[in-house]
Amino acid sequence: MKYIEVENYAEMSKKGAALIAAEIVSKEGPVLGLATGSTPVGIYKQLIEWFNEGKLDFSGVTSVNLDEYLGLDGTNPQSYRYFMNDNLFDHINIDKSRTYVPSGIAADLAAEGEAYDKLIKSLGGIDIQLLGIGEDGHIGFNEPDECFTGATHVVDLDESTIEANARFFDSIDDVPRKAITMGMASIMQAKKVLLVANGPKKYDIIQKAFFGPITPKVPASILQLHGDLTVIYSKN
Ligand code: GLP
Repeated sequence: MKYIEVENYAEMSKKGAALIAAEIVSKEGPVLGLATGSTPVGIYKQLIEWFNEGKLDFSGVTSVNLDEYLGLDGTNPQSYRYFMNDNLFDHINIDKSRTYVPSGIAADLAAEGEAYDKLIKSLGGIDIQLLGIGEDGHIGFNEPDECFTGATHVVDLDESTIEANARFFDSIDDVPRKAITMGMASIMQAKKVLLVANGPKKYDIIQKAFFGPITPKVPASILQLHGDLTVIYSKN
């Protein structure tokens, strides 16, 4: 693991964006695993800036996102599909038909999960997976549990996650109680993993996840076993 501590969010975002940009310029048809949440927004802003300056071309890029709330379709501003369009895809020259987010409104969610894993396999896996981290250690929406789950699956969100994500909704009652998330297999099989976190609120969980025991009670801790993991933590 490469653990990098930086002073501020701007520095974290620039370093994170540089790692993703390196994949885009060095690979033909790179597959980016992307994440939502407030933490990656600075990385997306930096990538957009480099695109506007003519430094990055997204025309050959494919993306797969980690997760989606159940019951929200892509036109809902709280959906993760909407978030990705709004924070990245609408501002770069990526082919939208090659940007994938699991569907939270599929009639058969088990089939949706299976199809999502097959899709990732058919793309040849993920070149670099970007991750944030929840205060309870979740990655994607893989919540603390008795065991790690490999496949893309439906989860019940923890009360603490619902509370943490309520800031994006009008009221806590509007936060969906369930989500569909990529499981640990696709994440662990990504060729590179980049996890970003910022602020004192994330300090304890970063210590637990990357310097404590590997346990499904702290889902991100499994990343300690990944062969090419970079963690960037910004103190502020
Ligand atoms: C959500 C997402 C996670 C994200 C987490 C942290 O729960 N499903 O992928 O890492 O929020 O969000 P933030 O970066 O806003 O702290």
